[in-house]
Amino acid sequence: YVIGVDLGTSAVKTVLVNKQGQVAFETSESYPLSQPKPGYSEQNPEDWVEQTLVSLGRLLEVSGVPAEEIQGMSFSGQMHGLVLLDQDHQVVRPAILWNDTRTTSQCRRIEQKLGGELLQIARNRALEGFTLPKILWVQEHEPDNWSRAALFLLPKDYVRYRLTGDLAMDYSDAAGTLLLDITAKSWSETIATAFDLPLSLCPRLVESFDDVGGLLPEVRERTGLGETTRVYAGGADNACGAIGAGILSEGQTMCSIGTSGVVLSYEERKDLDFEGKVHFFNHGEKDAFYIMGVTLAAGYSLEWFRSTFGKELSFEALLSGVDEITAGADGLLFTPYIVGERTPHPDADIRGSFIGMDASHRLPHFARAVLEGITFSLRESIDILRESGKQITEVISIGGGARNETWLQMQADIFNARVVRLENEQGPAMGAAMLAAYGSGWFDSLADCAAAFLRTSKSYEPDPDRAEQYNQLFVIYQEIYNQTADLNR
Ligand code: XUL
Repeated sequence: YVIGVDLGTSAVKTVLVNKQGQVAFETSESYPLSQPKPGYSEQNPEDWVEQTLVSLGRLLEVSGVPAEEIQGMSFSGQMHGLVLLDQDHQVVRPAILWNDTRTTSQCRRIEQKLGGELLQIARNRALEGFTLPKILWVQEHEPDNWSRAALFLLPKDYVRYRLTGDLAMDYSDAAGTLLLDITAKSWSETIATAFDLPLSLCPRLVESFDDVGGLLPEVRERTGLGETTRVYAGGADNACGAIGAGILSEGQTMCSIGTSGVVLSYEERKDLDFEGKVHFFNHGEKDAFYIMGVTLAAGYSLEWFRSTFGKELSFEALLSGVDEITAGADGLLFTPYIVGERTPHPDADIRGSFIGMDASHRLPHFARAVLEGITFSLRESIDILRESGKQITEVISIGGGARNETWLQMQADIFNARVVRLENEQGPAMGAAMLAAYGSGWFDSLADCAAAFLRTSKSYEPDPDRAEQYNQLFVIYQEIYNQTADLNR
């Protein structure tokens, strides 16, 4: 067996997977998100560690699998979050997360100072969610905390450190810091020195499938795991989501809808210039890359809508009504910019809208419009990838967006591509388990592991009439951004 741990934004999920790729048991434990001020988003790293230990303990206890049969374990984690440690490796302040947008002025500073060099080295634009702007924010606003900071880690790297005692970061996650020279696979001295950051702030770099050690005695004691379980570094949740969806060769694309939404394609052309329109990151596979666009509030928009207007309804109940409303929600359009946006509008200030309300509209119309708006936003990323030369005829859908038939068909119609759901899809947690399986030597490559572990369950073909109808609505949807951009400035 191997274990995959996915440290998400709302919960940690662990899966226990056998050599055939079957999930023997899974557990999930949640933790709070704190928003001390508008735009702020923080978590207490101790909560991650505690809930991961609880989750692993339950996995062992309830599955009944003997500890000595668990060969490996690896991690997937929410990207970009800043965990600052002091010299004694104690956490300096709460972690500042990927969806925190306080750092607009630091982003401007980075772009002004580095100009075109940023895109050449870090291959991405300075966006509020990335780690370097968060480091600069602490440097500027919290001199006491900054004076104690000796090292930074990303969320899953901190949890792995607490489980193994090893301090490291893998390339796929380091890619989202803006401090990594993406193609050279080393920390960028140019970027660090531009902001007076000592390179000693950056941890050792490893591959996602590298063996980083065993579990600490107190962790073994607490969880029931044993000395046979080796720990492999793991990767960014999007890299792991891609691995878990089998996105391991050129031409493969996935759509992942969790709190955020992502459209991601494997990319072998490392010298292509995307002008920062999409993120360009290292994959969890050696020397491979992927490009992706991000909708900041995908599942988050739906959860906001449910908890604000349909609190008494479960997701299933809310979405069951959507079926009865026709494509286009009778003229109602939604833009999911409720916490700002990333792709194609890197804009922390833009806010969402409902446009075209009619007195006949009821809750299911609004729910359908929310699903369509999220999917239109992801279509914008699909279009950018297509413009870069990608053929996108098939999209593997994972996450919350793959749990609902109506939404899967909607993705096919709006993307104008076949949408495929996997059997027993486990998202990034499966990618983490696959890194452990590959690291443990079960397979010669991650692609071999994917061939053995992953099976498709159902395909959804685009309906030509609805695809055309959505094409027309999409044109109007795209205008809403420009028309509303000044509302919140
Ligand atoms: C990617 C991003 C999000 C988080 C979610 O750039 O910010 O997808 O990784 O966990």
